[in-house]
Amino acid sequence: MIRKVSVNTIQKIKNEGEKFSVLTAYDYSTAKYLDEAGIDIILIGDSLAMVALGYDTTNKIGVEEMSIFTKAVAKGVSRAMVVTDMPFMSYNIDVESALTNICKMIKYGANAVKIEGCNEHIIKVVNRCVESGIPVMGHLGFTPQFLNVLGGYNIQGKTYDATLSILEQAKKLEEAGVFSIVLEMIPEESARYITENLNVATISCGAGRYCTAQVMVSDDMLGKFSEFKPKFARKYGDMRALILECAKRYDYDVKNGLYPCEDEIYKLSETELCRFGTKGLA
Ligand code: KIV
Repeated sequence: MIRKVSVNTIQKIKNEGEKFSVLTAYDYSTAKYLDEAGIDIILIGDSLAMVALGYDTTNKIGVEEMSIFTKAVAKGVSRAMVVTDMPFMSYNIDVESALTNICKMIKYGANAVKIEGCNEHIIKVVNRCVESGIPVMGHLGFTPQFLNVLGGYNIQGKTYDATLSILEQAKKLEEAGVFSIVLEMIPEESARYITENLNVATISCGAGRYCTAQVMVSDDMLGKFSEFKPKFARKYGDMRALILECAKRYDYDVKNGLYPCEDEIYKLSETELCRFGTKGLA
């Protein structure tokens, strides 16, 4: 029997000084393959707004869209923990509406949710989720949903004081009950200091080598999304080239009568064929 990755698995990995892997997925078959490959957490990141839906920022995606992708991914996964990123403003208005939106993702198959930032409201949301049985992943450092306030894609935690301030937020999230925290675009030394001073696992998204886990947008990892490439994204494949090559060959075959061939067509039975007589069929 497959043993599902749970908050206990993640805590055990952190306690034992081991590492775990996180990748995003937005559709059933990708999720199925990532799960089969042994990825521990599959995140339906709101990055899907840009890489799968073509929006110019992640802030344009809503709860309904995230629910559809959550449903698809959850159906493909047996072992990994499925985490859904709560979209912009879906948890910031008040605790009740946050809980309503978060609950939808769990009903659609997520095992946990991710929310960005740390303030009094966020702490209340984390508390209520955990009390209600919903695991929460935090997200600090560069928080894309705050892009307009942060003034651009800027590295966070660049000084000792800034690092302490992120650590202080991380400790508040830990106390509120998060099971892990994404640290995005933080210098490696700062992320190391934060990680070593927390009991929960940290997940590096451009935060260097010393976090408990690494996360990447799968479209970056597969070389599918080509509009921009963050410094920390490593291409393990070239899906863009593969898709282009396959589509060009298909286009050529269709236009030159090479597709479909004899083995790829359905045929009438001899009896039915005879009924056409000589009319219509050569
Ligand atoms: O939206 C996303 O995919 C994310 C991860 C890259 C952490 O938030």
